[in-house]
Amino acid sequence: PVTAVIVVAAGSGERLGYGMPKAKVPLGGETILTHALRGVAAADVARQICVAVPKGDTQLRALCAAFAAELGDSSTQITVVDGGSTRSDSVRSALAALLDGTEAVLVHDAARALTPERVFHRVADALAAGAKAVIPAIPVVDTVKTVIETHGDDAAVAPELVTGTAPREALRAVQTPQGFEVATLRRAHDAALLFDDAQSAAVTDDAMLVELLGVPVHAVRGASQSLKITTPLDLIIAEGLLEGPLG
Ligand code: CTP
Ligand code: MG
Repeated sequence: PVTAVIVVAAGSGERLGYGMPKAKVPLGGETILTHALRGVAAADVARQICVAVPKGDTQLRALCAAFAAELGDSSTQITVVDGGSTRSDSVRSALAALLDGTEAVLVHDAARALTPERVFHRVADALAAGAKAVIPAIPVVDTVKTVIETHGDDAAVAPELVTGTAPREALRAVQTPQGFEVATLRRAHDAALLFDDAQSAAVTDDAMLVELLGVPVHAVRGASQSLKITTPLDLIIAEGLLEGPLG
């Protein structure tokens, strides 16, 4: 299918704590966004890369322009759009800027800057094989429990009470790039426009919106190198990956 990659890079990077959008934070002497774009381009799965940057951020726009120049006269077109105040808003802005005739789209977090090429290929291959939605996923290493806030006597003991243990074998931690038939992802994001604030706040990836439509979402193997750089510890790990044998 004719494919585009959306790179969402419009977040503020609050948890990383650099006082600047995360896409601009240095990693191995370059920015997180440069690493992310290089990975997307190297995978060579798309004719368009559409990047959502923070509204009004001329530096990140310039960075994208420099990257487009670095690509030269390749067959991949770089488009830049203003992102929104939530990740979903940023995805919607980018969806509106896809070239006519685009049939499939991979939505990728700039924060997953070191995602290996093979993960892009697994996702693109599943779309080519007929999936309408496909996500990269990895097994969960921790035991995951559900909790509720405690009240009354329990609150004097501890702040939370465990209500259950999820079956770890059936759990997956999901990553990006998440691949979709364009029409399906557009329909999913249109439906999400009707959400109230609490529902919107609970949207943490694109696939969950597609799940709500009742469309099957398939999973392929992700990679630990695809970690989302979220906290200062993650940045240390990413620097280590660039230097070490996994880099
Ligand atoms: N993102 C975006 N637009 C937003 C919020 C997030 O494009 N309004 C992007 C981020 O740039 C990132 C990806 O979505 O590549 C995943 O988001 P996250 O890791 O939460 O990044 P930030 O929102 O920047 O970080 P924080 O939540 O700590 O502020
Ligand atoms: Mg965020």
